[in-house]
Amino acid sequence: MIQLIRGFKDILPGEVELWQHIEKTARSLLESFGFKEIRIPILEHAELFARSIGEDTDIVEKEMYTFPDRKGDLITLRPEATASVVRSYIQHKLYAKDPVRKLYSIGPMFRRERPQKGRYRQFYQINAEVFGIDSPFIDAQLIFLLAVFFKKLSATEVKAHINSLGCQICRPEFKEALSVFLLAAKEELCSDCRRRRERNPLRVLDCKVPSCRLAMADAPSILDHLCPECSRHFEAVKHALEKFKVSFVVDKRLVRGLDYYTRTTFEIQTGSLGAQNAVAGGGRYDSLVKALGGPDQPAVGFAIGLDRFVEMTDLKAKDFAQNPDIFIAALGEKSMSMAFDWACAFGLEGIIAELDFAGKSLKSQMKRADRLGAKHVLIVGEKELEEKAVIMRNMTTKEQLSVPLDNLIKAVKDKIS
Ligand code: HAM
Repeated sequence: MIQLIRGFKDILPGEVELWQHIEKTARSLLESFGFKEIRIPILEHAELFARSIGEDTDIVEKEMYTFPDRKGDLITLRPEATASVVRSYIQHKLYAKDPVRKLYSIGPMFRRERPQKGRYRQFYQINAEVFGIDSPFIDAQLIFLLAVFFKKLSATEVKAHINSLGCQICRPEFKEALSVFLLAAKEELCSDCRRRRERNPLRVLDCKVPSCRLAMADAPSILDHLCPECSRHFEAVKHALEKFKVSFVVDKRLVRGLDYYTRTTFEIQTGSLGAQNAVAGGGRYDSLVKALGGPDQPAVGFAIGLDRFVEMTDLKAKDFAQNPDIFIAALGEKSMSMAFDWACAFGLEGIIAELDFAGKSLKSQMKRADRLGAKHVLIVGEKELEEKAVIMRNMTTKEQLSVPLDNLIKAVKDKIS
């Protein structure tokens, strides 16, 4: 039998209801904060990601699903949404009328990482981006929004980690100081970090290998190298978070795995997922729109990892599952034909109705109604048709009453609402 590809998964009925609930909550929250949905394609030119996420990142270097299409163009299954949203903002001149745009999207991303708990090759993100605002208030508002989202869905075991990565003015100076430190610490670093040391030294800061952590304990901090502008921005973000009563920790090691960030970066981390502790991540990327050929517009955003969120929350899919409101147990051909009409009419009224098409006995139909978790059963046979009334049984209280056939749909609707 053909099986799933490693690192991919099916989200089955019985699980998907929780996903739907989370997505619904996210949509409603984001829309309350002025975000509009954008749907971007799953395939893009490979170059888009190389130029935005960065050639020397793990994602671009070794995790992208990139392949030539039939004409030989290199295309990539998107590993994240930000680059595509920026491309779309530029391509459709979404800045023309008003540079300020707040856009969200929900969908699958693809990274060929080593699969483990909380890490998949196809995973889902809720992604939000704000263009055209450079105020630190908006950085804080996004982190506030994340805090509200987690609280709304009773995911309380989380903490916001924040940092600043400076800008094109102050970061090179920090990189210089870091490189000097890394050269001295070279022998203690893992083989990956020895490589990163030259190509992407910032990434050494968040290496999880214990020997690297030890070696980096006294590494210089970016926060000591921020230029006055970046420093003011970071102070203002912290101040606004305090005002919004969002608890956070300043985490000078938080460098993130994508190269486009400037100034504020943040992650929502949890202790309940083992190594994959980031349930959401984001930050400012003030140079990316321009770098990809657009106007000089600042931007900031985040993505929530839905798979990880589902794994950490105590909410249960069954609490959001919709069981049938009605099971119609029909006996005999005539009843069956009427039951089918009713089932369609119930459906049109938003009442979920199921019935058995196999002409089984009443006992076996009642068993099925029970298995499906139907709230009520309508029993209809020859006798009921003659008497022009069906029996309606409440499956919880076991109460039974007779409902006249004329105006049945409305009568049932009134009874169950
Ligand atoms: P990211 O940190 O790469 O950021 O991903 C965001 C979230 O996606 C992570 O915190 C994690 O929850 C989830 N995630 C990432 N990789 C996997 C995986 N292999 N399996 C399961 N979940 C995963 C971004 O993607 C940026 N585009 C976020 C952003 C938006 N920054 C600015 N705007």
